Amino acid sequence: MPSVYESLAGANDAFDESLRPAKLDDFVGQRAIVGNLRLYMEAARKRKEPLDHVLFSGQPGLGKTTLARLIATEMGVAIKETSGPVLERAGDLVGLLTTIEEGDVLFIDEIHRLPVAVEEYLYSAMEDGHVDVMIDTGPAARSVRIDLKPFTLVGATTREGLLSSPFRARFGVLERLQPYALEELLAIVTRSARILSAGIDKEGADLIARRARGTPRVANRILRRVRDVAQVKGDGSITRDIAREGLLRLGIDEHGLTELDRQIIAAIARNDGPAGLKTIAVAVGEEEGTIEDVYEPFLIQEGYVSKTPRGRTLTNSGRELLDAKSRPSSLF
Ligand SMILES: Nc1ncnc2c1ncn2[C@@H]1O[C@H](COP(=O)(O)OP(=O)(O)O)[C@@H](O)[C@H]1O
Ligand SMILES: [Mg+2]
Repeated sequence: MPSVYESLAGANDAFDESLRPAKLDDFVGQRAIVGNLRLYMEAARKRKEPLDHVLFSGQPGLGKTTLARLIATEMGVAIKETSGPVLERAGDLVGLLTTIEEGDVLFIDEIHRLPVAVEEYLYSAMEDGHVDVMIDTGPAARSVRIDLKPFTLVGATTREGLLSSPFRARFGVLERLQPYALEELLAIVTRSARILSAGIDKEGADLIARRARGTPRVANRILRRVRDVAQVKGDGSITRDIAREGLLRLGIDEHGLTELDRQIIAAIARNDGPAGLKTIAVAVGEEEGTIEDVYEPFLIQEGYVSKTPRGRTLTNSGRELLDAKSRPSSLF
C-alpha cells in the first residue's frame, strides 16, 4: 500500500514543488516565526546586510525548506541548496562557499548530519567570513585563507538536540516550527485543491485536515490520493464520502494513524517492559531514524506513547487504542 508518509522523511518531489508557496504572504500559519522573519529581513535590508544565520527545526513536512526559499525570495538573493550528508568532506563545503555571491542564502538541509570536520569549517565561514584550507601534505603543507562573500546560512533540522552547542550558538535566529492548527491545515488543503483545480467542499477539506497530523505535507499527500478517488469514483470534486474512501485506502484511521503507527504501538505492547528503538524498528521493518523523526513525535504528541530513559512505553490511551483495534468497528 502506498504510504502517505513515503517521502515525509525523504526528498521533495515535483508534487511538493507545485504546491509550495512562492510568496511569504501565501505561507499559512507559523505566525510568530513569519513575523520575526519579516522584521529581521526588513532590518537587514535597511542595513544593506545579509540576514543573520537562521536555524529552522521541526518535524518533517512543516515548512522548513519552504521558509528557507522564501527568505531568499524576499531578500531578492539566490539560494544554493545542499544537505548535511552530501557534504562529506570539507572540500565539498569550501567549493560551495566560493561560488556564493554577496548576500546569497546557503541552505543546508538535515544539518544535524553534517560531519563534524565539515561543521568546524563552517564555524569560521559563518563567523569570520573566511575559511582556512590546508593545501599539500607533509613538509609543504600550509594553510591558505579564502575570503568569502557575506552570506546567510539557513540550516534545517528535524533534531535540534543533535546539534552541538557551539554550532547552535552561531545562528542568530533559531526558530522551531510547530504542528499546524486545524484551521491552518484547512486553509492549506483548500489552497492546494485550488492549485490542483480539484473542487472540494467544506466537509471534504475538514476531514483531510483532521487526519493530517498537523503537517502540511501530509495534508497535501492525502489530498493527492483523495483527488484520484474523486476522479475515478466521483465527478472529480472532493466530498466527505470521497475523502473518507481515500483515507480508508491509505489505511489512515480516525485518529490520523497509519498502519505503521499501529504496528509501532503493537510492537511496544508486545515487548516485555519498555521497548528500545531498535526492537521497534526490527518489529515493524522500518529504519530507526524514520521511526524517531517521522512517526514517533506524533504518537508522543497525541499521548499514545511515552519515552522513558529505558525505552518507549504505551500510555493508557495507547493501550485503549490497541483494545479498540481488536474490536470490529467502522473506522469513521
Ligand atoms: N505554511 C505552509 N503553507 C502552505 N503550504 C505549506 C506550508 N508549509 C509547508 N507547506 C507545504 O508542505 C510541503 C512540505 O513543506 P517543506 O517546506 O518541504 O517541509 P520541510 O522542509 O519542513 O520538510 C511543501 O511542498 C508545501 O507545499
Ligand atoms: Mg525540507
